[in-house]
Formats: sequence, C-alpha cells, structure tokens
Amino acid sequence: MRFLASGRRHKAARPLLLLVSLFLVGAFYAALAPATSSSAEGVADAQLVARGKQLFAVNCASCHGLNAEGLAQQGAPNLTNVGAAAVDFQVRTGRMPMANPLVQAPRKENTFTEDEIAALAAYVASLGEGPAIPGENQYDPSSVDAGGVARGGDLFRTNCSACHNFKGAGGALPNGVVAPSLEDSTGKDLWEAMRTGPGQMPVFASGAVPDEDVQKMVAYLQQVNQTPSAGLTLGGLGPVSEGFWGWVVGIGGLVLFAIWIATRGPRA
Ligand code: HEC
Ligand code: HEC
Repeated sequence: MRFLASGRRHKAARPLLLLVSLFLVGAFYAALAPATSSSAEGVADAQLVARGKQLFAVNCASCHGLNAEGLAQQGAPNLTNVGAAAVDFQVRTGRMPMANPLVQAPRKENTFTEDEIAALAAYVASLGEGPAIPGENQYDPSSVDAGGVARGGDLFRTNCSACHNFKGAGGALPNGVVAPSLEDSTGKDLWEAMRTGPGQMPVFASGAVPDEDVQKMVAYLQQVNQTPSAGLTLGGLGPVSEGFWGWVVGIGGLVLFAIWIATRGPRA
C-alpha cells in the first residue's frame, strides 16, 4: 500500500494511467466491434435512404407526392408498397421520371447514376413491403441446360406471347398500349418486370413462376435473339405471315421463270 501510495505521486504515474486506460478502451472496442459494424451498416442504410428521399423530392414528388403516396390528379400511383425492384426497373429503363403522364411511360435513356437509383430504391423500400432488387443468381441463365431452354420456350409461349409475341418481338394491345420488344431486355429487366408488373403487364409472383423458371425464360429469349433469322423475318410475326412472304417470293419467282421459259423456249 505504501508502495502504491508513493507510486501515485511518481512523475510517470499520469502518463502511465493514460496509456493503460487507452489500452482498455481499445480492447473494449475490439471486443464490441462485430456488434458495432452492423450498426455502422445501419447508419449507411439510413444515409442512403435520406439521400433517396432528397432525390425523390426533386425528381418524383411532383407526381407521386412528397411521401410517395401518389397524386390522383397526375395519375401517378402510390409507391409505398411497390418495392425496390419496381423503382430499379422504372428508373433504370428510363421510364421514370416520366416527362408527362402519357398513356404509357416509354423506355428511354436513363439519366441517373447507379448510386442515385440505389438511393431512390432504398427510400421507396423503406416505406413498406415489395420485392427487393434481385441478385444475379436469381435471373442468371448460365446454369440452364438444353431441356431448360425448351421449357423456357413453353413457359414464355404460355405466359408472355399473348402480348409480347412468341419470339418476344412485341405487339400492340388495346387503347394504344404497346407490349415492347424484349430483344434488348436483360435477365434483370425480365425478373423485375415479372415481379412488379409495369403498366398494363400483370404481376407474375414467385409463387406462380419461381426464379428457376425465370432463368429458363431468359435462356430461351437469349437463344432466340442469338439465332440469326433467315433473311426477312417480318418481325417474327409467325408462320402465317412468314409463309405468305414465302409464297410471294417463291411462287412469284416460279411464275417469272415460267414466263422466261415461255418467251425463250423453242416454241417462241
Ligand atoms: C410526370 C409524372 C411522374 C413523374 C415525374 C414520376 N412518375 Fe413514376 N409514375 C407516373 C405514372 C403516371 C405512373 C403509372 C405509369 C404506368 O402505370 O405505366 C408511374 C409509375 C411509377 C412506378 C411503377 C409503380 C408500380 O406500381 O409498379 C414507379 C416505381 C415509379 N413511377 C417511380 C418513380 C420515380 C422513382 C420517379 C422519380 C425518379 C418518378 N416515378 C417520377 C408518373 C410520374
Ligand atoms: C397482358 C399483356 C402482357 C403479358 C401477358 C406480359 N407482358 Fe410484359 N409487358 C407488357 C406491357 C404493356 C409492357 C410495357 C409496360 C410499360 O412500361 O408501360 C411490358 C413490359 C415488359 C418488359 C420490359 C421491356 C422493356 O422495354 O423494358 C419485360 C422485360 C416484359 N414485359 C417481360 C414479360 C414476360 C417475361 C412476360 C411473361 C412472363 C410478360 N412480359 C407478360 C404486357 C404484357
């Protein structure tokens, strides 16, 4: 005790005490670090949401309302339960922000950066339920085999071809609405469109069409788009119109040939 009491008055006592307490704080922090890193993530999320809210106020609120509640006079829907996937789809494909509320938001050049889209999506996702932005493993078709591609074709013809045509070339719907060509659509576009149902398109939930089936459809469309078509396809309108084209060229050519023979033949 006497040693300690005198030691406290030692010149080095204060700096030593400081060092020891710094060490203790460091050790204490290290022990808690795993717990604090997730709260650091929480802070980052909160920042992303805050940034998204700002971007939303500037670019989207004029139609969708300051709290994404939707403004009836603009015909703009409530976004509180559309999820991050809907925002990612609509902004990435340039549909949103809409220039003016037409019948249908056309695909156009997207003017937002990836970070801005992530922020907008995080903000809307923070408001309610809805599908998240998919990971690549959810739509990537690389594990689909030949049988899967064929199945993808069946699924596509059953669920999608009524509007998008059996090769995904697109088509017209009533009231001037267009089901766009899917030629340039990515696997992510397909997944997000199916899960969120943009415009007149119905939602295909994962309960009805699981992710493995989406991958098969992506694989099918990729194969269709890579297969070079033999000359004029007439937009893949189907056997009737393409057969008609065959008639015009084929039979027309035969008739011309027959005329040529008739005029050049020994009889002439
Ligand atoms: C000029 C008005 C206008 C602006 C600005 C606008 N929107 Fe929209 N938005 C609409 C309309 C109208 C629809 C419905 C269109 C449709 O169904 O095709 C819509 C639909 C959407 C949808 C689809 C909702 C669903 O049910 O799947 C999302 C997501 C969306 N908007 C996000 C945004 C975001 C994010 C912004 C800002 C970057 C934005 N919008 C800016 C008018 C607007
Ligand atoms: C009832 C008609 C209808 C059916 C069925 C339908 N779609 Fe659509 N689809 C549409 C319309 C309309 C749009 C354009 C939506 C908009 O932005 O206004 C669209 C848009 C899309 C897009 C976005 C394309 C782009 O230009 O960015 C994809 C991808 C898509 N559909 C895939 C599918 C798939 C896959 C299926 C089948 C599982 C399917 N659709 C079934 C009508 C339909």
